Amino acid sequence: MLLSVRDLRSAFFLDEGELWAVDGISFDVEAGETVGLVGESGCGKTIVALSILDLIPHPGRVVSGRVLFEGRDLLRLPPEEMRKVRGAGIGIIFQEAAAALNPVYRIGNQIADVIRLHRGLARRDAWSEAVKVLAAMGIPEPEKRARSYPFELSGGMKQRAMIAIAMAGRPKLLIADEPTTALDLTVQAEISDLLRQIQDEYRMAILIISHDLELVADMADRTMVMYTGRLVETADTKELVGEPMHPYTQGLIGAIPVLGAGSETPLQGIPGAVPDLLDLPSGCTFHPRCRLADDECKLEPPPLEDAAHRHQCACYKVRVQT
Ligand SMILES: Nc1ncnc2c1ncn2[C@@H]1O[C@H](COP(=O)(O)OP(=O)(O)OP(=O)(O)O)[C@@H](O)[C@H]1O
Ligand code: SF4
Ligand SMILES: [Mg+2]
Repeated sequence: MLLSVRDLRSAFFLDEGELWAVDGISFDVEAGETVGLVGESGCGKTIVALSILDLIPHPGRVVSGRVLFEGRDLLRLPPEEMRKVRGAGIGIIFQEAAAALNPVYRIGNQIADVIRLHRGLARRDAWSEAVKVLAAMGIPEPEKRARSYPFELSGGMKQRAMIAIAMAGRPKLLIADEPTTALDLTVQAEISDLLRQIQDEYRMAILIISHDLELVADMADRTMVMYTGRLVETADTKELVGEPMHPYTQGLIGAIPVLGAGSETPLQGIPGAVPDLLDLPSGCTFHPRCRLADDECKLEPPPLEDAAHRHQCACYKVRVQT
């Protein structure tokens, strides 16, 4: 297994209290596999990504669990070893591409640095390799763009540059956190095409994170649905979209015109909003928004259990199919 996350728990320690953004999550990513993570805004998706690379900002941190990458627990690696994993083992496309680029450093240098660090190329070779990576990421006039600063690039070009940095170390796992969200519609389509091209050509494992279930469903072999810091359903993507079990997943799918066409609740979103993670409802945290909720749901959180072949669900009303 390339990546095995086990019982991961990460929290922010705020004046108002402890905010558990990731509250006991386990999953695997095989080499070459694309796994999707979906859920509404504020459910903890980004904190899952940042936990894997041990990059949660203060006052947050990973509190417990294991992140096994090629058998080594990343949460227990010395900082020097962790720096090698970031880039060469795991590349990340951050949700805030603009903020992740260094504003005072040429794009080409930002890519060449990764190449020199992880592939040991000399300065001049690393620069020409950086130009090649920019070209491979669909950037026109790559020599000119390599000499540009981030502010000289459009939103779509910045995102391509961010992807180039993530790809420059030839990682075995690419984490793409909301890779299209900040972009306008036509550029979103171009960046999704680029990601599919990367998936086909490089055959690396991808963890694609988005609130956009349509994008995830289009790319991922398996999909995990997250709500208030926990996984509530995981399955092969086809099955998850075709036969969603959890009322939350059914709501997410029902809200999408294309995917929700055959669903019971076409084009209906989910009532209400994601609760404040500092003030969670008791029991199943989805109960205030769930059409099937009863008193049982308000007592204890339902565990994520096998409900069918390769299909897990955390809901008291979903009975195991044998
Ligand atoms: N730096 C921070 N300080 C305090 N709380 C934070 C911080 N970053 C995230 N959180 C909290 O952690 C929870 C999970 O946030 P996260 O960014 O992982 O959500 P998300 O699912 O990625 O949402 P989005 O779709 O908006 O990107 C939220 O309640 C958020 O308020
Ligand atoms: S456990 Fe109850 S409240 Fe939670 S999703 Fe299932 S039916 Fe709804
Ligand atoms: Mg996020």
